[in-house]
Amino acid sequence: CGIVGVTGNDNAVKILVNGLQKLEYRGYDSAGIYVNDQHGNDYLVKEKGRIADLEAKITPAVHGSTGIGHTRWATHGVVSVDNAHPQFSQDDRFYLVHNGVIENYQDLKSQYLSDVPFKSQTDTEVVVQLIDKFAVEDNLNAHDAFIKVLSLLEGSYSFLMMDREKPDTLYVAKNKSPLLIGVCDGYNVVCSDAIAMLNETHEFLELMDGEVVTVTPMHVQIEDQNGKSIERNPFHVDMDASETDKGTYPFYMLKEIDEQPNVMRQLASVYLAENGNPVIDPELLEAMQAADRIYIVGAGTSYHAGLVGARLLENLAHVPTEVHVSSEFAYENPILSDNPFFIFLSQSGETADSREVLVNVNNSGYPSLTITNVQNSTLSREATYTLLLHAGPEIAVASTKAYTAQIALEAILAKALGEVEGQIVAQNFDIRQQLGLVATGMQAIIDEKQELEKLSNDYLMDTARAFYIGRGIDYTVSLEAALKLKEISYVQAEGFASGELKHGTIALIEDGTPVIGIITQEKTAGLTRSNLVETKSRGAHIMTIVRQGLAQPDDTIVIPDVEELLTPLLSVVPAQLLAYYTSLNKGLDVDKPRNLAKSVTVE
Ligand code: G6P
Repeated sequence: CGIVGVTGNDNAVKILVNGLQKLEYRGYDSAGIYVNDQHGNDYLVKEKGRIADLEAKITPAVHGSTGIGHTRWATHGVVSVDNAHPQFSQDDRFYLVHNGVIENYQDLKSQYLSDVPFKSQTDTEVVVQLIDKFAVEDNLNAHDAFIKVLSLLEGSYSFLMMDREKPDTLYVAKNKSPLLIGVCDGYNVVCSDAIAMLNETHEFLELMDGEVVTVTPMHVQIEDQNGKSIERNPFHVDMDASETDKGTYPFYMLKEIDEQPNVMRQLASVYLAENGNPVIDPELLEAMQAADRIYIVGAGTSYHAGLVGARLLENLAHVPTEVHVSSEFAYENPILSDNPFFIFLSQSGETADSREVLVNVNNSGYPSLTITNVQNSTLSREATYTLLLHAGPEIAVASTKAYTAQIALEAILAKALGEVEGQIVAQNFDIRQQLGLVATGMQAIIDEKQELEKLSNDYLMDTARAFYIGRGIDYTVSLEAALKLKEISYVQAEGFASGELKHGTIALIEDGTPVIGIITQEKTAGLTRSNLVETKSRGAHIMTIVRQGLAQPDDTIVIPDVEELLTPLLSVVPAQLLAYYTSLNKGLDVDKPRNLAKSVTVE
């Protein structure tokens, strides 16, 4: 979910709606705003669907100078206007928007609110009704009632609350879910992600878990858990608002696919010296050198980038490396080596599942690195070290340039670590030249995108299921390729270890089922080709994504040659484009596939 707030600006409605539009990637089931004009007029507008649907419902009469807004990714309660936020108390006094999940809301409801009529099925309404109850029954002001309720909550939240009786004040708190205060000239804003408010300010205050903040047009008061006031300087977000625009592209996803060659060049210029040597914080390398095992943790596409990263670290730096899905790792308590080092991969730096692992890692005192695209994100702030992806904002829900940026940066890191470890293979790995080849190779694939659109039209548009297969590093790419296709085109796609197919899954092959083999590794190329033929004999329509040096006359998509360890940077690009065109030509919303959100801040 995404949250915005503003106080002290007569354009509050516009600021809220613009902000929500920028946060739509965080959820787009339903949305709402509450605004107050300080003269006794206030408005609550909520609607199912996209921000555009909410906007259409906002009449010119709706105005105010202080307000809060929310775009929802449903957790508790179906998608409906009643369940959309802001939620409000039964006497219409308190209005609340919430990102996160309150785990004990049922207990609180039965303990304190059994006599209160509820309009929604949300955990959030329990919180706002409880604030109202304490305000009325215990004669508390909004601030104190808010704090009293916070002390009873279990779970994750960022909250933004308004009280009709003090309509220029925003009450703010967070635990686990992200939230920033934007400091503007004569007014203030609040948002889940800085990109929501870049038109208003570039100066933001970060908030820590447990803090409570009171925001008025001219003042931001931060208190710690004990009510002690805290001074904090804003940080500058160095990003242009236009970076978050689509420009002339029909969808962000295509723009972001197209940006990948530049992202490769950008990473080379940030992390490589003139002579091609990596420029990585020596302290980070020392901490990694002290480790006997590296644990990479991530979710979704970031997990897939980790699977490639493990191979890079093991091959170039010879450190045993394990990769884990964060939501599994958090509660399985795996037995760790004596000196573990953790790498968190996360485009957003906010994924709750990954953060849960980091909290445990920090509690155990282990060193960690976050590789993320978002400066000052939660995972970045809380890890020992951070490396930024410098990929520019990624808005499409389906991740593309973050995956390739993560792999390229893992390669640079593995080369740097291998060199300090004296590994010859790392010394001989010419990362600068390779990233140059990758950038050119990506461009060549992108320039031929019409071919991929044609393949998608011919073989993917009308199929219910499809397979990507490969071995080793190609298998890891097949997982990402299948995820792209399924998440935006709703083709049930599976990535499979090509040797494993015959042990069961081959039963799903029917006449015309598309099976796409990824073939970039010399030692497994022949085997994957045999597995493809096995599916063809059972009716599959087979296609290949093959590295030039291994290509044969009837291969489908031939990609340029690069070092075998870096081939995922190229082999994934045709798969991204195949997914894009399948979704596009099915008439789906490529950037905002159903049921999904880009930044998942609940566990
Ligand atoms: C969501 C997104 C995925 C993303 C995953 C991890 O599920 O839809 O595209 O890969 O979260 O996000 P992160 O920001 O941690 O990389």
